[in-house]
This record gives sequence, structure tokens and C-alpha cells, in this order.
Amino acid sequence: MKTVSSFFDLRAARLSLDGTVGLVPTMGYLHEGHLSLVARAKAENQHVIVSIFVNPTQFGANEDLSKYPRDLERDLSLLASLESPGTASQLIVWTPTAEMMYPSGYQTWVEVEALTKGLEGAMRPGHFRGVTTVVAKLFNATQPHKAYFGQKDAQQAAVIRRMVADLNFPLEMVICPTTREADGLAMSSRNKYLSEAERKAATVLFRSLNVAKALYEAGERDGEMLRRKMKEMLASEPLAQMQYVSCADYDTLEELDTVTGKALLSMAVYFGKTRLIDNFVLR
Ligand code: PAJ
Repeated sequence: MKTVSSFFDLRAARLSLDGTVGLVPTMGYLHEGHLSLVARAKAENQHVIVSIFVNPTQFGANEDLSKYPRDLERDLSLLASLESPGTASQLIVWTPTAEMMYPSGYQTWVEVEALTKGLEGAMRPGHFRGVTTVVAKLFNATQPHKAYFGQKDAQQAAVIRRMVADLNFPLEMVICPTTREADGLAMSSRNKYLSEAERKAATVLFRSLNVAKALYEAGERDGEMLRRKMKEMLASEPLAQMQYVSCADYDTLEELDTVTGKALLSMAVYFGKTRLIDNFVLR
């Protein structure tokens, strides 16, 4: 495993790679969800680049960037444990700094329009502009053949897929399934902020998604009914404060009256100060 930080060192490392390259962008504080993306990238490419960068431009003014959990040493040892010794396959970990990514005078942004207006975009203004800008920069710097993202952040995956198509990035997007704890809670760096009681209560996201999925599988196609049933389940949990619940078209992310094609059930819920998101895809 090789760790690089500057664009210069990343470029040199990238040029030394012969064969296909998979990129896994992360903000660090790695868990099983991130590692499942790295494992998939390793299985599908000769080499893998993992970026670890807590991107300041995707945090809102009221979101605490300085409190975002970080533990680079632990991240590096987790990644080292995934290495395949004795093979020619390389694992490169890229850890740029905010000063490298956004030097003084920086003024160029990538913005996806309609897809970023609803759901997470409505709750977190400017968030996706930060995400698409940094991901475009990561793509340019690492020139991957394939890039790996989690279904856990469904809107992020949809927005980046749109950007890749619109800006003709010559790479293939791979969206990987959400990794969950044994009780169904989606793995997230933010779970560590939950108190013991909140941690128990947090399974209500998975439970309410399952209620809607069961109804869908029994033939329910009314979008409002699916939203209502998810809201009812969330309301039954006193520690959960719902922010939004959605049943939207999978591609456009527009709210659905009637589910006809592929759809996305999604939600954002507060437990104290901790905001959790989760989703299911209906096909
Ligand atoms: P981060 O939250 O660190 O997540 C990195 C990647 O891991 C994302 O593609 C995310 O969807 C995926 N991921 C997170 N939890 C997961 C889970 N439980 N199962 C499967 N995949 C999971 O998302 C970001 O960072 C940033 O916005 C980034 C894309 C790196 C741009 O800064």
C-alpha cells in the first residue's frame, strides 16, 4: 500500500500503474460500508485508489465540519488489511489537504441542476455543488476506469451519475448495495454520535422502509400511501424526529403519485443532533 498526499505524488503514482484502475472516494473514518466498496473495486480492477478527504465545500454553515470524525491511522490499517500481498496489484491511498484541493483564488464549480433541488439538496443547500466539484476533481486527478459509490447516499449517486454523463467523464460508475448492521441500521460514520437509546431507536428507518416495501410487494402503488405508512412508523418512535420521507422516481427523483417504474423510498431522520438517512430501491 502506498500513501500519497500532493497532486504531484498522486500523478506520479497514477502514471506508474499499468492496467485498470478503480477509484473509491471517501471522507475517511472508514467502516464496513466503505470497505465493501474497496473490496468490489479490488475484485474488478488491477489497481485501486482510495481517496480520503473531508471535503469542506460540501458542509453547510450550520453543519459542523470540524466535528466530522477523523482517524487516519485506523483508516490506513483497515485498508492495509485488504491488501493482496505477493500480487502486482497496487492499493494507493490519496490524502490531499483542503489547501491543495482549494488553493487561494479557487473559483471553479461543477453544478448539477434539477436533480439537486429536492430531498437532501433541499435540506442542505450547496451540499451537492461541493460534492460534484470535489468528485470531478478526484476523477480528473486519478483518471479511473471505474468509480465506486454506495447506494446508501442514493441522491449523491444519482447526481454523480448525471454529472458523469453530462460532462463525458470516460469512466463507469458502479453503485454498491448498502452495508447494514445486524439489526438493519445502515452503516454510517455518524452512527457513533448516537446514545445507546438513540442507537436502538435508529432501527426505525429500516423498519419503516420495510413496511413500505412489504406494501409495495403486496401490490400497493399509491405513492402517498407509501409515504404515509413510512411516516406513521417513524412517528411511533419517540426519539425519532422525521425531516422528510419520499417516494420518488428513481431517475428524476420527483415525488410520485403512482409507482409505475423503478422508484426510490428515502428519508432523513434526526435522533437528537444526529441526522441519519436511508433508502430502498423498488423495482
Ligand atoms: P463518505 O460519506 O465517506 O462515503 C464514501 C462512500 O461510501 C460513498 O459512496 C457512500 O455512499 C459509501 N457508503 C457510506 N456508507 C455506506 C454503507 N453503509 N454501505 C455502502 N456504501 C456506503 O460520500 C462521501 O463520503 C462524500 O460525499 C464523497 C463522495 C467522498 C465526496 O466528498
